[in-house]
Amino acid sequence: MIQSKAYKYKGIIFDLDGVICHTDQYHYRAWKIIADELGIFFDQKINNKLRGVSRMESLEIILNEGKVKLTDKEKEALAKKKNDAYRTFLNELTPEDLDKKVLETLKALKELKVKMAIGSSSKNATFILGKLGLSDFFDAVVDGNSISESKPNPEVFNKARHALNLEKEECVVVEDAFSGIEAARNAGMDSIGIGDASKSDGATYKIREFSDLLGEEFLIS
Ligand code: BG6
Ligand code: MG
Repeated sequence: MIQSKAYKYKGIIFDLDGVICHTDQYHYRAWKIIADELGIFFDQKINNKLRGVSRMESLEIILNEGKVKLTDKEKEALAKKKNDAYRTFLNELTPEDLDKKVLETLKALKELKVKMAIGSSSKNATFILGKLGLSDFFDAVVDGNSISESKPNPEVFNKARHALNLEKEECVVVEDAFSGIEAARNAGMDSIGIGDASKSDGATYKIREFSDLLGEEFLIS
């Protein structure tokens, strides 16, 4: 019985895109539109470099790939165009898009009395949570609107754990981005790598799927 166990950490800080939901693939599709327009080669491998990184920094990475130089005004226009395309994809999201196993795992963690926060670089995080029916689920949401530095800077995770009122040793971060694993380390917190970040040597733990968060290694009798 999982309910008779305790969780190894008092708090979990989840990244959003690519961890709770598959919006990382919407980011990919939206950036692909921009890259194609600029004639810059763009694939999933390059997309992995954008995980956890802010919108403007992501654009800089893509422009660097193509050795394309633009004015600030042109960059602003492209970032807006990307976000408009991304929001069109997000508009289609419904609670049905939330993986059943993710929802069950989140509910089980809540029953185990684990405090939970979102720590995301995205300015669309609140919108996405609303679309997925998760607006009121998390104890705290820290997103791209409340930070001045994106991952690997630890700001987002420091703010999230303060919001949970926990010490850094009491929290673990769940991330799909190498930059996110580094941010957790910079915050002095343990981390769990999933997806692309399950290849990161810096991750304290690596899991294959979200429900592995309920694995024996995280439960105390
Ligand atoms: C992160 C994504 O969650 O949010 C990045 O991993 C993205 O790929 C960043 O660039 C910013 O997102 P948004 O929604 O503010 O453009
Ligand atoms: Mg992510």
